[in-house]
Formats: sequence, C-alpha cells, structure tokens
Amino acid sequence: MIIVSGIQPTGSLHLGNYLGAIRNWVLMQDALKPGDRAWFFIADMHAITLFQDPAELTQSTREIAAALMAAGIDPAKSVLWNQSQVMEHAELAWVLSCTARIGWLNRMTQFKEKSGKDREGASVGLYTYPVLQAADVLLYKATHVPVGDDQKQHLELARDIAQKFNTDFGRELFPLPEPTIPPSSPRVRSLRDGSAKMSKSDPSDQSRINLTDSEDEIRNKLKRAKTDPEPLPTAVEGLENRPEARNLVEIYATLAGTGLAEVLGEFGGQGFGAFKPALADLVVAKLAPMNARYRELLANPAAIDAALAEGAEQARAVARETMREVRDAVGFLGR
Ligand code: TYM
Repeated sequence: MIIVSGIQPTGSLHLGNYLGAIRNWVLMQDALKPGDRAWFFIADMHAITLFQDPAELTQSTREIAAALMAAGIDPAKSVLWNQSQVMEHAELAWVLSCTARIGWLNRMTQFKEKSGKDREGASVGLYTYPVLQAADVLLYKATHVPVGDDQKQHLELARDIAQKFNTDFGRELFPLPEPTIPPSSPRVRSLRDGSAKMSKSDPSDQSRINLTDSEDEIRNKLKRAKTDPEPLPTAVEGLENRPEARNLVEIYATLAGTGLAEVLGEFGGQGFGAFKPALADLVVAKLAPMNARYRELLANPAAIDAALAEGAEQARAVARETMREVRDAVGFLGR
C-alpha cells in the first residue's frame, strides 16, 4: 500500500479540506505498518495554473505545511514536501501528456469550472493540470490516494493514463491508483450556499471555516451560516432538498464521529438557534488544539523550510528511480 496525496497552497486550510481529505491522511498515516510511509505534498506547481503573487505563494506554502503538521501529519511517519522541489513531477508530466488524449482532458469538469467563460484566456497549465496530477501519484507508484469527492474524476484519469502507458510500452510499470474516499467523508458545502463546495477560492471568507480562525470567528460564521426556517428533521430522509441543513449536520456528525441519524436523534425537532451553538462548541473544541500548534510551528519558518527540504530529498530518491524506469520504457537514450 503506497499512499500519496496533495493539496494546493492557495489560501488557508479549511474545514472542507480537513474533513474531506486531511483527516483521512492522518488516519491512514497512523494506521501504517512500521517502516511503511505515506507521501504528502503541497502542490505549488498546480497553484500557478492560476496567477499567484510570488511572495504570497512562498508564504502560503509554509502555512499549509504548518497546518498539515498541526493537523497530525508527522514528518517522522510521512514524507512531506512541496512539489516544485522535485523536478521529476514536471518531467513525468511531460511524458504522460504524450500518453493522455485530448478527448480525455476535454471531459474534465474542473477545467470547465475554473476556466469559466474565458476558456481561450485560460493558461495551458490549467488545461493539462490533471496530467501533472497523474504524474504526482504515478511517480511514487501510488496504490491509494486519499482525496475528497471533487478529485475523483482526476484520479480516474490518472488510472486511464497509467493503464495506457503500461499497455503502450508493454510493462506493468505503474499500479492503477485507487481514490480513497471513506463514506464518512462529506463533501463540505459553503456556509453561504449549500449548492457550492467549501472552497479556498470563494471570495467570501464567511463561506468557510479556516483551521486558523479564532473562536469568535468560528462562532460568528456558524451563527450567520445560511439555513432554512424549518427545525431539524427527526429522520435522515428529512434532510433531502435541504442542502444547508444537511451540510451542518454532516459537519457535526463527522467531527463527533457519529452518523447523521444519531445527530438528528439528539437535535431533531429543534431549531438552528439551538443546533448552531452546539455545532460551534464542537468545531471550536476540535480545532483549538490544531490552531495552537499551527501558531507555534509558524513562529519558526526556518524549521518548516528545513522539514520540506528534508522531505523533498526523500521524495527525489524514489522519483529518480521511477524516472529511470520510465526513460528506459520510452526509449530515451542516456542517463
Ligand atoms: P485541493 O487543494 O483543492 O484540496 C485538497 C483536498 O481537500 C479536498 N477538498 C474537499 N473535500 C470535501 N469538501 C470540500 N469542500 C473540499 N474542498 C477540498 C480535495 O478533494 C482534496 O483531496 N488537485 C488537488 C491537489 C492535487 C492532488 C494531486 C491530490 C494535486 N496533485 C495528486 C491528490 C493527488 C486539489 O486541488 O486539491
């Protein structure tokens, strides 16, 4: 079992990233057999598919690293680095862009969402983004990729690319990576709009709970979270067509480690005036220790940079080995 996953360093880590992915990274890391390691990276090369202010990119890379460590990613058990320090990601992405088909990329919904109406004006990198993502996991021969539900399509593409590469060159070089999305991982929605996912790129900070928010900010955001006027239902079916209510109940259930039915067993029939403060207590209690640790880590940026450089060195050793096999498979002369 080789676990690989990544996160972009744009904006801060929010509850959607945490409940959808990072919490599972930590659970999978902690369940590893001694000697096995998981591979987690900060996707700074993906980040620049949309323009990033250079100084901000450097700083948010550090912040995401600190947030991941505060959330429980332990550099003694997991390899943690930023993608751009290991140039083999770009090298493999080129080779795989000759394996992937234009028709496959044309189906990617994220490109359609992110390029919006101005498709001609989007960067080429935004279009080939999923090929780099395939390279990220295949470089380490990932078998399991813990991601949120929104990344499933990209992982299916990575499987198609791996399969075609293996077939084209007649060797089982890449295992087919499996997206690991535990059923208990919700797609966390925006607090302002139950039809949108909670996202770093939403211009309204009120739409998300950041792992770095203060207790007051968390309480205020939840108090103002959009809901409907009905009380909470007493059964799960009652959440149908109530996306905002469902979102808050899912957040509660995931953080409390119970199911939707249990949460509704406790709060069904009550209004949001009663439920929201209980949810805020739970969110604050879960995030406070992470928040404190995050601030401690961020006070020492040199230590973060050193941890990422150390992780990059370990990643590079494996990446070089895979690229040797890839070059040999493709027939590139030399090295
Ligand atoms: P990114 O940076 O958008 O998000 C990181 C992880 O958080 C999950 N996630 C969510 N889960 C549930 N609800 C939400 N509202 C929510 N928002 C984000 C994402 O599914 C993801 O698992 N393309 C990737 C980064 C990447 C990557 C990779 C991931 C680059 N290379 C290779 C896996 C393997 C992305 O932009 O994730």
